[in-house]
Amino acid sequence: MSVAYGPYRLPHPYVLAPMAGVSEQPFRVLAFRMGAALCTTELVSAQGLLRASARTLRYLRHDALVEHPYSLQVFGGEPEAMAQAAVVGKQWGAEAIDINMGCPVKKVTRNGAGSALLCDPPRAAAIVRAIHAATGLPVSAKIRSGWDAHHRNYLEMAEHLDDAGCIALAVHPRTRAQGYAGLADWNVITDLVRHRRRMAIVGNGDVKTPADARRMLETTGCDLVMIGRGALGNPWIFRELLGGPSPSPAERRDGVLDHLAAHVEFVGEPFAAVRSFRKHLGWYSHGLRGAAAFRSEVNQLAQLADVQRAVQRFFEAAVGDGAADDEQEVDYRSALG
Ligand SMILES: Cc1cc2nc3c(=O)[nH]c(=O)nc-3n(C[C@H](O)[C@H](O)[C@H](O)COP(=O)(O)O)c2cc1C
Repeated sequence: MSVAYGPYRLPHPYVLAPMAGVSEQPFRVLAFRMGAALCTTELVSAQGLLRASARTLRYLRHDALVEHPYSLQVFGGEPEAMAQAAVVGKQWGAEAIDINMGCPVKKVTRNGAGSALLCDPPRAAAIVRAIHAATGLPVSAKIRSGWDAHHRNYLEMAEHLDDAGCIALAVHPRTRAQGYAGLADWNVITDLVRHRRRMAIVGNGDVKTPADARRMLETTGCDLVMIGRGALGNPWIFRELLGGPSPSPAERRDGVLDHLAAHVEFVGEPFAAVRSFRKHLGWYSHGLRGAAAFRSEVNQLAQLADVQRAVQRFFEAAVGDGAADDEQEVDYRSALG
């Protein structure tokens, strides 16, 4: 069942998606511990890496004992700057570099980065070559299916990237223009697999359950399945995929408390950490009885000890109520990639 990922062998095909503000060290470590085969970092700016700003260096923190291979996602539009940035990433421990070619956010695309690279496959390929030449590290890429419905050039992108020596191509099969609307078109993944030469094809999009993940593997023939939103508040999805149980209430409580503690340590400032952890509490409580009241309670709390007590109380008693009216308060429109 192990899968080749450039020079590395992954134990199985299930990996965590890069997610800005989510795929930070604490969540990646949690996902790895639950069995994820690979957890790429959120997107990190090449310019930020070159300046080695404190904010950017925080993105580079990782647990070398757990995170292997440590894959760093970088965004930028210029091959030379991307190569130099990747060298900095390597100095900080990166074992693989992933290039973001899917981010739809204007701040990113107006500099020719993220999904803007879909409009210039030769430049995308030049970035892969430059990074590999400068670092010797395996280089992967993550794309959308194209810029818009009239420019779904994923096969052309794949050809250029494969020629450039890219080791793996992840595809979120929606166009840049689509955002998160509609369903991910898994036929795009099938198509990429059919035309594949050397690169591993990583399927992504709308995998919410272990059954979805298996269905994606079987129907598309992809090498790896990448899970994003399906892992929010549910890192146990990886354990379930490997045949393990879903979490008991006590385990969920302990998992949330451990994640909170790691998050506080990572952020280094309890007040800020309590605020930035609220989104995780929203995801962890989703679908459990009383989740809406719990969320409005913790959204008022500023002290770490109060949040810990509220988490303890809520998750100890947590049972699913299958309530459809308890919608997740997550704004994916602001999400990247
Ligand atoms: C909160 C959030 C942040 C994201 N940030 C990134 C990112 O930094 N880099 C990236 O390549 N994709 C990013 N994405 C896109 C995901 O990696 C993934 O392609 C997308 O969510 C579709 O997969 P899913 O249906 O499993 O969520 C982000 C998605 C979300 C929801």
